[in-house]
Amino acid sequence: MQVVETIAGFRHLLDGTRHDGGRVGLVPTMGYLHDGHASLMRRSVADGDAVTAVTIFVNPLQFAANEDLASYPRDLDRDLALCEAAGVGVVLAPPVEEMYPEPILTTVSVAEVSARMEGATRPTHFAGVATVVSKLFNIAGPCRAYFGEKDFQQLAVVTKMARDLNFPVEVVGCPIVREPDGLAMSSRNVYLDEHERRAATVLWAALQRGAAVIEAGERSPAAIVDALVATVGSEPRATLDYAELVDPATLAPCAEPLASGQEVRLLVAAQVGRPRLLDNLGVTVP
Ligand code: PAF
Repeated sequence: MQVVETIAGFRHLLDGTRHDGGRVGLVPTMGYLHDGHASLMRRSVADGDAVTAVTIFVNPLQFAANEDLASYPRDLDRDLALCEAAGVGVVLAPPVEEMYPEPILTTVSVAEVSARMEGATRPTHFAGVATVVSKLFNIAGPCRAYFGEKDFQQLAVVTKMARDLNFPVEVVGCPIVREPDGLAMSSRNVYLDEHERRAATVLWAALQRGAAVIEAGERSPAAIVDALVATVGSEPRATLDYAELVDPATLAPCAEPLASGQEVRLLVAAQVGRPRLLDNLGVTVP
């Protein structure tokens, strides 16, 4: 596995792979990797990418001034060991000055898909994500890029951006990886103390409750969302940010009664102690 800190070095290696006829698989991350990230790397390897390339970069642009940029967990040695074990060929771990050598005046923003849910609570977040991901796509060149469904709205933003701007990148969404008790894996889970860690399972419980009421015949979006809200509300350590039932393609809230065969997505976000946790679940209406 080769580890580089420069954009030129990373480009050179990936150009070499394509020159030899191989496909590049790209896994953009902010480090502090867990099995959710490893599953994206393993997917790239299993899909036959000639090289799986990981980027590890805590992107300042996607953090607001009051957020956890300075304290975001970092452990490069551990991250590199995880990458190696997952079959990664190249890692780009650039310093901030390599990615942003001068104040950036160009930003990429994706309207509508970014507007609600995470975008309502963190108004500058998705422009920061779309800008760094467009830089990473330009740096990596033609590839398949793997993103987790855990950040379902981010996946929608990046997919739309790649289409709108004709990046030669196929965006691949990959399933959420969960702890044995259902908590979705996230680098920020490290912030949870023992009590909060137990309380955090309420997000998964709420999504399962939402899926169960749909399964039981409920077709009113408002009643389904109420079930999510009530479940999160039953956990005193959790403060609900949003609970939504949306169309998975557009992220528009479902307004009409659900129809048989319809694909929907349940999403919840809640503050549990220090971290804001996100989770979501896809349901096909019976
Ligand atoms: O999901 C993340 O870790 C980040 O938002 C990403 C996509 C690597 C951009 O910084």
